Amino acid sequence: MDKEHDSIPMVDLQAELNLLRTPILEMITEVLDSGSYIMGEKGEKLEKLVAQYVNASYGVGVANGTDALQLSLRALNIGDGDEVITTPFTFFATGEAIAQVGAKPVFVDIDEETYNLDPNKIEEAITEKTKSIIVVHLYGKAARMEEIMDIAKLNNLRVIEDACQAIGTEYSGERVGSIGDIGCFSFFPSKNLGALGDAGFITTNQKDTYQKLSMLRNHGSEEKYHHSSIGMNSRLDEIQAAILLVKLYYLDIFLHKRKEVAKKYTENLSDLLKKPSIPTGREHTFHQYCIELDKRDDLSEVLKKNGVASAIYYPVPLHLQKAFAYLNYRKGDFPIAENIAGKILALPIFPMLSYQQQDYIISIINTFMLSNG
Ligand SMILES: Cc1ncc(COP(=O)(O)O)c(C=O)c1O
Repeated sequence: MDKEHDSIPMVDLQAELNLLRTPILEMITEVLDSGSYIMGEKGEKLEKLVAQYVNASYGVGVANGTDALQLSLRALNIGDGDEVITTPFTFFATGEAIAQVGAKPVFVDIDEETYNLDPNKIEEAITEKTKSIIVVHLYGKAARMEEIMDIAKLNNLRVIEDACQAIGTEYSGERVGSIGDIGCFSFFPSKNLGALGDAGFITTNQKDTYQKLSMLRNHGSEEKYHHSSIGMNSRLDEIQAAILLVKLYYLDIFLHKRKEVAKKYTENLSDLLKKPSIPTGREHTFHQYCIELDKRDDLSEVLKKNGVASAIYYPVPLHLQKAFAYLNYRKGDFPIAENIAGKILALPIFPMLSYQQQDYIISIINTFMLSNG
C-alpha cells in the first residue's frame, strides 16, 4: 500500500459523526432528560419533517427498512396466495418482506441502465393473483416510475417504492417515496440518512393507509390496550429519532457532496469500464457508485492490496438465493441481473472522501484498466 494513504473504507461513518458529534450529543441529552423514549416528541417531529422532505402527506417511523416493507404490504392487505412483482437485483430484504407476509415474490428482469425493473417485462409476469409491484430505487437511482405507474394503473396494482437506498432522489420533479402508494426507507447507519442503530420510515399520501400503518407498527392498536388487528412492535425509538433529526438537517449538503464525488469519478475514471449513467432530467443520489467490468474480481483484489475497499452489491440475485429455492427459478431466468451481478463493483463513496483519496483510487483503477481493459 502507498505509504501516503491510510486505508480507504467504503464509507467513513466516524468522519461524519465527528462533524455532528456536538449537536447529536445535545439532542440525545434532551431525550434522556425528557423521560420519553418511545413514541415521543422527537419521533413525531421526525415523522413530520421526513414526510415533508419526501413531499408526502404522511410519515410513519418504524424499526427498520425491512419492517417498513413488511408493514406496507400488510397495510395494503397483501398476504397468503397473493403475488408481488419485484426485481431480483436488490438486497435480500425486498424479497424477504414479500415472503414474510405469506405472498409469493415474482421476479422480473432489470434493465441495464437503471439496474431496476424493466417496465417492458412486467406485464408478462402479471397474473390474476398479482396485487402489487415493489420497485427498488437501487443505489440511489430512480426506477422508470412513469412507465411502471402506468402499468400499475392499467392492471389495478398497488405500487410500493423500496426507497431504502434513495432518500432525496428526484424523479421528474417528485421525490421517490411520494410517487407510488407507499414509500419505504431504511435509516441503517451506512445509508445516506443513517441512524446510529436500526431505524426505518414509511411515507404515503393516503390517509387510510397512513392510519393503518400507524396502527400496525404499534401492535395493531390505536388506543392503549385496545387492539383491532394483529400488528407488530416496530416503533422508531426517541434516541434514533433525535439523531436522525440532526442528520436530516445536513442531508442535502451530504447528498451534494456525494454527487460531487460521483462526478469526479465519472469524469476521471477510464472509459474502458462502464460508469453509472444519469438520463436527462433524472437524478442520482449515489448511495453507491458502481462500475461494471469483466475483470471485476481482479480489480477488487488490486484495490484491496493498495488499501482501498470495494464491494459487490449484490453478488447473488434473489432468484438464485437458497432461501428462495422453493420458487423454482433457475440460473439463466434473468440474464441481465445475473450478468450484472458478475460485473458490478461499488467504489468508496461518502461525503468526507477527500480529493487526494479519490485521486489515489482513480489512479489505481486507471492503471489497472490500461493493462486489463
Ligand atoms: C434496497 C433495500 N431494501 C431493504 C433494505 C432493508 O432495510 P433495513 O436494513 O433497514 O432493514 C435495505 C437496507 O439494507 C435495502 O438496501
